[in-house]
Amino acid sequence: MNFHVLTLFPQMILDGLNTSITGRAIDKGILSVEAVDIRDFSTNKHMKVDDYPYGGGAGMVMQAEPVQAAYEHVAERLSKKPRVIYMTPQGHTFNQQMAHDFAKEEDLVILCGHYEGIDERVLENIVTDYVSIGDYVLTGGELAAMVVIDSVSRLVPGVLNNTESAETESFENGLLEYPQYTRPVEFMGKRVPDVLLSGNHAKVDAWRFEKSLERTKKYRPDLYEEYMQSHSEMHQ
Ligand code: ADE
Repeated sequence: MNFHVLTLFPQMILDGLNTSITGRAIDKGILSVEAVDIRDFSTNKHMKVDDYPYGGGAGMVMQAEPVQAAYEHVAERLSKKPRVIYMTPQGHTFNQQMAHDFAKEEDLVILCGHYEGIDERVLENIVTDYVSIGDYVLTGGELAAMVVIDSVSRLVPGVLNNTESAETESFENGLLEYPQYTRPVEFMGKRVPDVLLSGNHAKVDAWRFEKSLERTKKYRPDLYEEYMQSHSEMHQ
């Protein structure tokens, strides 16, 4: 899968993704991450990419032309019109289901804004998906883009190895994940729950499911309600 990030801070994207699991997948050729510097497409002699907002107000707005040109630089090399995700607090809140949906694409273009946003006209031209990573405001879209790329990448076949398998994670079944333990059996007076040492897989599974429910009810009552609702409907 190929990510093409349109950004004013390409190094931030490359530094963030060339390590750990995404870095390993890039080295193996399963993923590629191209960071396209929007400033390279400025037509201004000072390489400016922003200007004052029409109508007045605080801050600067990224101009349409360099963003459009950066997009075309990517799109003209692809065999079909790509999906273009604009990272913005005004978008749909990102979730695991969206990660699965994006992971089906061969190429994904991700547009990162800065300042007070981007001229609406180029957004209308190129953006297919408006995505937020939560109800808070970042200084730019780069960290948000890395969050999306990281979570989509781990769903691409071959990115995770068997021991890193993505299937039993939080959200995959609509619940938060159960607590995990490893050696030693006792740490600062706290013992690993006996059931996990029992070797009885059915009992382990039942315990984990119960803990998942407990945690989800406590920390994410919204998800818990949704889960209980959908499962009671299934049994009607
Ligand atoms: N850019 C600034 N804040 C953001 C957010 N919460 N999500 C996505 N992109 C953003």
